[in-house]
Amino acid sequence: MQLDLDFVRSQFPAFDGKSPAFFENAGGSFACKQTIDALTTYYTDTKVQPYASYRESAMAGEQMDHSQKRWAQALGVQTNEVSFGPSTSQNTYVLANAFGRVLGAGDQVIVTNQDHEANTGAVRRMAERAGATLHEWRTDPATGTLDLAGLQALLSDRTKLVTFPHCSNIVGQENDVAAITAMAHEAGARVICDGVSFAPHGIVDVGALGPDVYLFSLYKVYSVHQGLMVAQNGILDELPSEAHYFNEGYPDKRLTPAGPDHAQVASAGAVLDYIEATHTHHGGTGSLADAARSVSQMWQDHETSLLEPLLEALAASTKVRLLGPAETTTNGQHRCPTVAFSPLGQTPESVAQRLVDLDIMTSHGTFYADRVLEGMDIDPARGVVRLSFVHYTSVDDVSRVLDALEQVLGSEH
Ligand SMILES: Cc1ncc(COP(=O)(O)O)c(C=O)c1O
Repeated sequence: MQLDLDFVRSQFPAFDGKSPAFFENAGGSFACKQTIDALTTYYTDTKVQPYASYRESAMAGEQMDHSQKRWAQALGVQTNEVSFGPSTSQNTYVLANAFGRVLGAGDQVIVTNQDHEANTGAVRRMAERAGATLHEWRTDPATGTLDLAGLQALLSDRTKLVTFPHCSNIVGQENDVAAITAMAHEAGARVICDGVSFAPHGIVDVGALGPDVYLFSLYKVYSVHQGLMVAQNGILDELPSEAHYFNEGYPDKRLTPAGPDHAQVASAGAVLDYIEATHTHHGGTGSLADAARSVSQMWQDHETSLLEPLLEALAASTKVRLLGPAETTTNGQHRCPTVAFSPLGQTPESVAQRLVDLDIMTSHGTFYADRVLEGMDIDPARGVVRLSFVHYTSVDDVSRVLDALEQVLGSEH
């Protein structure tokens, strides 16, 4: 079923009477009105310390629990396997600390050079502190993609942890989470998957895909500025608690010691109301998980139809090097509409600024993925230009970006 874009855009106040050509969604998306309304309601009606027995406090606590329960349903996991933290970087940092207390000399840890620094830096430092051996699963220098054979060659019965991204925030290519997880589990290793770049394009069945930890940032998924972490397969019992000692008995507090932002946690589930409303609007029925899967498919179909002309234009240009695959599907895996390129003549800074001058909301830099760029022989000091969009992006937005690219790159001499 085709996504009704008028309906979608009517759910985002950022489009009220405006048509911004917004192409920095991988940095953070617009929030849907359900999210904004939930925050307003919380701050207006229940902005008190939650979980006491007076009405406002009880309501605040119930709303926080509701967000956790709804996200667990959408992701196909148990409620107490979901926790909220200030950001994915913070969640990964605490997680790495916990691993550092159980790993030691003789153990092996595998990281990639494709990750955003959030999912690799803390793990690398942890391995060094613990005296464990670190292996890097490296990307193909030409495409920036990861090959399963590369992982297979590094795995051994001493591998205790594998961390990898569901999708890179530079090359946009989806990694096969189920296959990677199965390979790591076969070797007896635990798996951390960074879902930040994928989640805005698809709310997946984390339970079925199987990674022990799956993380993403809600502020990129039309929601509040929180990191969501799923920890499943009994990993919470295996890792030492990082929480206050008297909270150790609460699984969902063990890896998120920070005092939560109550309003944001209470409002974190509202984006799922948006997803359900989209599902119902398109004639869908069934559970929240059904809605999440079906709406994700509609999002991806729409995004892919807009991605094709953009990839085609950049791949054909002699003025830029397109990073990542030029195809929207490779080996059955999806390419997300996060499109980075390295200009061959002008600097990325100048290209981005000229696009901004033409009212394209975009940016340049490394996007905290310096290692991916180095792996493709791109100087992080120079960086790249990134154009990223999501399901609320229109055909007109993409035409505007194509015209702007033509003006900026076509005028090169
Ligand atoms: C792929 C990826 N992983 C992790 C992060 C870190 O997320 P947060 O900003 O919530 O710490 C980002 C942020 O841009 C990201 O793009």
